Amino acid sequence: MKKITIAIDGFSSCGKSTMAKDLAKKIGYIYIDSGAMYRAITLYCIENKLINNEEIKITELRQHIKDIHISFQIDPSTQQPNTYLNDANVENKIRSMDVSSKVSPISTLDFVREAMVKQQQKMGEAKGIVMDGRDIGTTVFPNAELKIFVTASAEIRAQRRYDELKAKGQNASFEEILKNVRERDYIDQNRKISPLRKADDAILLDNSKMTIQQQQVWLIEQFNKAAEK
Ligand code: DC
Repeated sequence: MKKITIAIDGFSSCGKSTMAKDLAKKIGYIYIDSGAMYRAITLYCIENKLINNEEIKITELRQHIKDIHISFQIDPSTQQPNTYLNDANVENKIRSMDVSSKVSPISTLDFVREAMVKQQQKMGEAKGIVMDGRDIGTTVFPNAELKIFVTASAEIRAQRRYDELKAKGQNASFEEILKNVRERDYIDQNRKISPLRKADDAILLDNSKMTIQQQQVWLIEQFNKAAEK
């Protein structure tokens, strides 16, 4: 079977990362969570006071961007990839509500996207990669052999995010999360550069009423078809 490139795009909190990570593990591919990269930049901005309330210090961030190094390392005890920002493990910090509420405006900045897309394309040079995000099938890997576009209702996505935060012991309000999901949908779909949209050749998956197991079976079928072509 030849090695292929797999792009999984879709709305926030629709389970893309879980399905992408799981698929990569099963088929022995590298998994990259591109959203984690935008989240890590956001955390960098928060920690370095480059974002104040809603205002981003764009000129300063532009100067700092070359000093922001993002990488992924597998945690040997969990076998899960962790996100590193300049050599510090930030996997938990980047999932906080504070980062979630500030990441969308930062991900609309052209120089941020340019830097991230370049890094992502480099990571995928050898194929054998599953990457999830918003613009993977349209901008990062327009020639990917398998493209999936995932969606689910905003309420279901907010509930999943709420359950996830609760399980980690983090404080959360369902209403606040739902508002955040809707705001992010709007920004992701309406930004000027690489807005979230389904690539013409992507397969649509609405997983509102699917179990994780049903999704896994469906995804492996799509992978087998694409890799055999
Ligand atoms: O998938 P996520 O929720 O972790 O993504 C965080 C944010 O990053 C989200 O608001 C959209 C943005 N993002 C993006 O613009 N392009 C990507 N390829 C991935 C994420």
